[in-house]
Amino acid sequence: MRPAERVGPRGRPGVAGGGALPEPPAQAAQASRELAARIADAIGRAGGWIGFDRYMALALYEPRLGYYAAGSRKFGAEGDFVTAPELSPLFGQCVAAQCAHWFGSAPPRIVEFGAGSGALAAELLASLDAIGEAPERYEIVEVSASLRERQRELLARRVPALLGRVSWLDALAPRIEGVVVANEVLDAMPVRLFRWSDGVVHERGVACTPAGGFAFADRPADDAFAERVRRSVGPAWGEGVAPRGDYVSEIGEQAAGWVATLAERLARGAMLLFDYGFPRAEFYHPHRSTGTLQCHYRHRVHGDPFLWPGLQDITAHVDFTAMAKAAESAGAEVVGYTTQAHFLISCGLAVLVSEGDPGMTLSRLKATSAVLRLINPQEMGEIFKVLGVARGVSPPFLGFQSARPLALEPDPSD
Ligand SMILES: C[S@@+](CC[C@H](N)C(=O)[O-])C[C@H]1O[C@@H](n2cnc3c(N)ncnc32)[C@H](O)[C@@H]1O
Repeated sequence: MRPAERVGPRGRPGVAGGGALPEPPAQAAQASRELAARIADAIGRAGGWIGFDRYMALALYEPRLGYYAAGSRKFGAEGDFVTAPELSPLFGQCVAAQCAHWFGSAPPRIVEFGAGSGALAAELLASLDAIGEAPERYEIVEVSASLRERQRELLARRVPALLGRVSWLDALAPRIEGVVVANEVLDAMPVRLFRWSDGVVHERGVACTPAGGFAFADRPADDAFAERVRRSVGPAWGEGVAPRGDYVSEIGEQAAGWVATLAERLARGAMLLFDYGFPRAEFYHPHRSTGTLQCHYRHRVHGDPFLWPGLQDITAHVDFTAMAKAAESAGAEVVGYTTQAHFLISCGLAVLVSEGDPGMTLSRLKATSAVLRLINPQEMGEIFKVLGVARGVSPPFLGFQSARPLALEPDPSD
């Protein structure tokens, strides 16, 4: 299939418009073929079909070969996409302001999930240290061994005096106290796909093609999955109303399970989950009939998850209503949900910008354009949201206090 190019949320892709995607170098192409052979083997062993979540897990996380497990450069201008902490240190500085605020009622510790290049960790540690609030411990949970190494190198360069406070966890601690931070981690968790057609729910999985590639293959959903789909889309569509024709979308089961586990283990403290997504009514809007699955390859966004397995990112937007419900079902409190733009502004973005280098130098111009990308509604400002979850910490919640609250529940009048 020739991939359709469209504008995606991870920064703004530089290229939209036609043209083939760039060919990978020979060694990378060889690694991708090796991963494809492993995936084909997994499909064969499963009887010819695997769920899309299994395919996505293999393509992203298979040791040595998966996209996040392999050593290639992913983040920043030379990679496949740009994330907020990569774009500007101001993102981390604003998050640091929120953490410092919480350190009043939660222990001064941070747990970061999926720390990528380590840019957010470096900025949080440096900014908190600068105001005398350096956390006593900074723990990173990172599934990729190569990214752990990269994070360690960056932190050794940027905050050498604080490196001794940083540790990498192999497993999640049974009890979490402090502030949990995750930027663009939920969207990287494997999703299950479904196709709703005339009231019948199919699970969309992956099969091998005779030509040696992969293709989507649908089969009737089991009762539990069909019920989960109905419970997710029903409130968004309204009673007895269903879109005509095929409706394809995702269920982020793993992301919801992960939020529930974290919320359960959060004994005292708060969680900040940044990602692109919507509340349920928008996520499963009848017009969004092809879902939100996207692939990122060298700053181009397209819709073909079977292209060069292991060399491109595969991602889906986040159903924030599902995440909020998961946190609440584990007994934690949702203390805020707003856009990234509102959160950053409430955490003092404007003041931080005005404190920067006062001359109209090149660095100041660059900083200003990065800030615009962080808050511009057409770029990261509106599509990116922040969900705040807490247990045992006292209000007010800096990033959410002056922010326009967004609704998480579908509005029956829509
Ligand atoms: C899109 S990257 C974001 C990286 C970084 N947070 C940033 O903003 O630049 C997704 C990250 O999530 C990590 N990840 C995915 N699932 C995870 C999990 N269950 N636990 C911890 N990290 C995870 C990936 O390895 C990767 O580092």
